[in-house]
Amino acid sequence: MATFTDIVKTFVNSIARSKVSLMGAVLTTVTFPILLVAAVLDIMGIVENPYFGFIIYLVLGPLFMVSLLLVFLGLFFFKGKEGVSLFTYDYLKEQFSAPNRFAKVRKLVFLISGLTLLNLFILGLISYTGYHYTESIGFCGQLCHTVMAPEYTTYKNSPHSRVRCVECHIGQGAQWFVKSKISGVRQIFAVAFNTYSRPIQTPVHGLRPARETCEQCHRPELFHGDKLYIRDKFLPDEKNTHLQTVLLLKVGSGGYRGSNAHGIHWHVSPQNEITYTHTDTAREKISEVRLSKPDGTEIVFTKETDTGAGPAGKVRTMDCVDCHNRPTHIYLPPDEALDQKLAHGDIPVSLPYIKKIALELITRTYASHEEAKNTIATEIRARYRRDYPTLVNNNLPLLGQAISGIQAAYVENVFPEMKIEWNTYRNFLGHKNDSGCFRCHDGSHTTKAGEIISMDCETCHVILAEDEADPKVLETLRGL
Ligand code: HEC
Ligand code: HEC
Ligand code: HEC
Ligand code: HEC
Ligand code: HEC
Repeated sequence: MATFTDIVKTFVNSIARSKVSLMGAVLTTVTFPILLVAAVLDIMGIVENPYFGFIIYLVLGPLFMVSLLLVFLGLFFFKGKEGVSLFTYDYLKEQFSAPNRFAKVRKLVFLISGLTLLNLFILGLISYTGYHYTESIGFCGQLCHTVMAPEYTTYKNSPHSRVRCVECHIGQGAQWFVKSKISGVRQIFAVAFNTYSRPIQTPVHGLRPARETCEQCHRPELFHGDKLYIRDKFLPDEKNTHLQTVLLLKVGSGGYRGSNAHGIHWHVSPQNEITYTHTDTAREKISEVRLSKPDGTEIVFTKETDTGAGPAGKVRTMDCVDCHNRPTHIYLPPDEALDQKLAHGDIPVSLPYIKKIALELITRTYASHEEAKNTIATEIRARYRRDYPTLVNNNLPLLGQAISGIQAAYVENVFPEMKIEWNTYRNFLGHKNDSGCFRCHDGSHTTKAGEIISMDCETCHVILAEDEADPKVLETLRGL
């Protein structure tokens, strides 16, 4: 009677007779333990490095699958000199019909099922962890380091830094999952062959309609009433004079439990579907805005000047990202970047003219972050040692703090390697650069009857203070 070792021997022999199988078997044996250990390390979160995941799931994993396939292909199709009869139909028939052979066959079946189960287990394990890996922040944001550095950096500094990239970029459901993986493969080729555009073009055309992603977490109909908006500014004078602008933003709601949609989030009420025609790729030139009500009425606002200009107009349904196009990749303008650092104390306000000098330094053109950082450091040191020697010598850490604050303002917003300068990406929330809300609310979009989309300042906010030192309204609110 055949022993278990015989069976293993037959199996190994048959593999050895086919070169293809042999190659597959060697590869499987080598990759198997590595994959197992690596997948366990990854699941337990012991190694957290995006390149580690890349090697396991996108190199070793597929290699393992291909080598398994080679083993079987070899057994069936590429037989060696003597021919392998292990799995042929006649062979099996003979084995099953001869009673004394039955034990051998049974063991063989056990062995093969055992091996297959083991392989299925490891395949399952790597597909599961591999799926999680390709959905991870490390894979999306850190693997292609230079390409994604701007998005990853701005994301890290944003309110959404704990939301995974895929929750906005893919969302739930199979359809967008498949789309994203196909587009992902294209992106890997673009990076490998260095054909991606610098900077990455926006608006992102393949982006899923925002209401299917943002609304997994936010409910527009519930939205809060008004929101206090405070903007700190520092003048480029000797004292870096601190001014504040205070607005009450009428965020409103999309309508909830009988309350009517009102304020800024009026646009996202189910009662108000807004579509618009834009004649440029940036969606800034809007020739027609169409407001549709559930009862079928439509109000059409047109702007004469833009009609017919540029390529044929494209129609788009307005959603969250037509205003919140920078919910997480927030690139600030130079002025505002510095104002924030000054307001948070990252740059000391006590240094004379620091706003003015910093603004001049960060708006120069540099070839890299390194160059910018070095220049900022040397210039700041040189200027303050020359012009304010006593101040600086009495408080050395002050200069160091100023330098790192100014460097941060630059490296968090400008990425020369990706050709992202100041103001490369527009922000549609508000009306900086005269775009944003004013793409429609510019007072020139009118209906035939002469109604206009309002440009009245009070439509969207009440200005409580504008560029004031110590605004009274803030004192009142703080109970001072
Ligand atoms: C809160 C939602 C959200 C999260 C989280 C998010 N993104 Fe985005 N991202 C967007 C939106 C919205 C746009 C579209 C901007 C546009 O079309 O103008 C965008 C645009 C981009 C772009 C195009 C270039 C640009 O700067 O606009 C890239 C690349 C990108 N995201 C990568 C990432 C990566 C990598 C992560 C994770 C590290 C991430 N995103 C996380 C919402 C998000
Ligand atoms: C996975 C959940 C999730 C998704 C998806 C998501 N957000 Fe958020 N969002 C949050 C959380 C959590 C916060 C609050 C962060 C905090 O205050 O710490 C937030 C905050 C915000 C804020 C307030 C930011 C501020 O300045 O305080 C805005 C605006 C916003 N999200 C818009 C969006 C938009 C637009 C999208 C879709 C492109 C989106 N979010 C998708 C979870 C999400
Ligand atoms: C017409 C433009 C517009 C549209 C469309 C829009 N928002 Fe807003 N949203 C705003 C403005 C403006 C604010 C206040 C901005 C600020 O905080 O500086 C705001 C505030 C918010 C906030 C923060 C509220 C708070 O109190 O901090 C969240 C969250 C938010 N929006 C989510 C969404 C989501 C989700 C959608 C899509 C369903 C959406 N918004 C559609 C303009 C818009
Ligand atoms: C694509 C065009 C478009 C854009 C962009 C747009 N709006 Fe509107 N908005 C409209 C239209 C159309 C109306 C309705 C006008 C009317 O009925 O008189 C409207 C109405 C409003 C109203 C009045 C809502 C009410 O209570 O009746 C507010 C507030 C408002 N928008 C704020 C904003 C803000 C803030 C932004 C920028 C963050 C913005 N809108 C961007 C098209 C737009
Ligand atoms: C369609 C809506 C809308 C209209 C009309 C509008 N604004 Fe605004 N404005 C906004 C929003 C939204 C913000 C906040 C932007 C943000 O969150 O970054 C803002 C911000 C501002 C700020 C603060 C900017 C800063 O320095 O941070 C000022 C000042 C301002 N608006 C003045 C005006 C004046 C003056 C008018 C009338 C000519 C006007 N706005 C009309 C929506 C509007």
